[in-house]
Amino acid sequence: MNDLNALPHDFAWGVATAAYQIEGAVAEDGRAPSIWDTFSHTPGTIDNNDNGDVACDHYHRVPEDIGLMKRLGVDAYRFSLAWPRVIPGGDGPVNKAGLDFYDRLVDGLLDAGITPFATLYHWDLPQALQDRGGWPVRDTAEHFARYASVVAERLGDRVKDWATLNEPLCSSWIGHLEGTMAPGITDLTAAVRTSFHLHLGHGLAVQALRAASSDARVGIVNNLSPIEPASDSEADRAAAVRADGHTNRWWLDPIHGRGYPQDMLDLYGVELPARPGDLETIAAPLDWLGLNYYFRQIVRDDPTGAAPFARQIDVPDARHTHMGWEVHADGLEQLLLRLTEEYGARRVYVTENGAAFPDTVAADGTVDDPERARYLDEHLAACARAVAKGAPLAGYFAWSLMDNFEWAYGYDKRFGLVHVDYETQRRTIKGSGHHYADIIRAANARGRKAA
Ligand code: IFM
Repeated sequence: MNDLNALPHDFAWGVATAAYQIEGAVAEDGRAPSIWDTFSHTPGTIDNNDNGDVACDHYHRVPEDIGLMKRLGVDAYRFSLAWPRVIPGGDGPVNKAGLDFYDRLVDGLLDAGITPFATLYHWDLPQALQDRGGWPVRDTAEHFARYASVVAERLGDRVKDWATLNEPLCSSWIGHLEGTMAPGITDLTAAVRTSFHLHLGHGLAVQALRAASSDARVGIVNNLSPIEPASDSEADRAAAVRADGHTNRWWLDPIHGRGYPQDMLDLYGVELPARPGDLETIAAPLDWLGLNYYFRQIVRDDPTGAAPFARQIDVPDARHTHMGWEVHADGLEQLLLRLTEEYGARRVYVTENGAAFPDTVAADGTVDDPERARYLDEHLAACARAVAKGAPLAGYFAWSLMDNFEWAYGYDKRFGLVHVDYETQRRTIKGSGHHYADIIRAANARGRKAA
């Protein structure tokens, strides 16, 4: 096991999931469809035509799933709430049964000694709001703020750690530009407007959370990648700057009060639908930053492609996960240091990090996944190196607690520390899950008692 001594004594060891990926029960107790129900039921959008109708059936298995977290020994659980369960129409009436579900989840976690980290939006916009224009429309940001306040008023006495958005990059660029995620739009103007209204919704939600719960600790979760040029040519170096703007600076600058990067505004050529005061709202001070890290990007100039005209190239001799993503733990260290040095971060969580590998269940029912355990070791070591160099890292959430619906890839890609047999819903802690439990136990033995 790696030397993780540099990690702070009160480091939060966690696991993460998201509502649509695990809950199932999509038509139960008043939940209305989200854009992901619509998208996943559109033939040809998802591998194997999978959908989240049942997923891990977590909605009916909360006690069992909390039991798994206890066996892993985690301190914290990052989950998301389904907006269409809480306010099925997006605005309008609140669905008490939906809130009750999250109330039970939070109580169960606290009873188990696990700190809840709640994410308000992990991509499942109520379809009713999509029908009224979705994120390209300003009203959606206002509705999001109301949803935030409804949730915080109900759970804010027990949930202290809140993330507004998960990976707004994906909702914007993949959902509205590339079109391979819900709502499946391919339009640069819609994508840029989406990114702006997501940020505005984030800023308004920060205000709503703080108003409803004065001791709320609020953050936002971004997926970032270090970017490197494929060669030393001027064209590739310029492509790397653009890719960095598209992937990193567009998401970090505005929430840090720097506005949107001018080079990217020029490149997109789309006018932001900003009103006076919006940029200040977007830059509301935060208590923490969430970093989701999966891969770096090595890019080549691609003048005939789509914005940002930079094409990611493969690294031939590298290890890759089942997603085809290069395993490159140094990138996590780099990003943690960048958040610290360039953005002055005061508190950061790795809110997601993990790997899909094609697991097999042995005849005795066990799942041995040494590649995932190695991935964990390497990335935790990168965290420790970053902390040793000054990064204010306060916790790590492995993605994911259990195998789940991996969006456009369906159920074929397994990220879990716990294996899920989707036929029987049987859960089995994988070798990597036991390994993570060992790491947590060792960290506790090392530091926590002395702290
Ligand atoms: O499964 C996703 C998650 O929903 C968001 N971050 C990346 C994960 C792996 O692709």
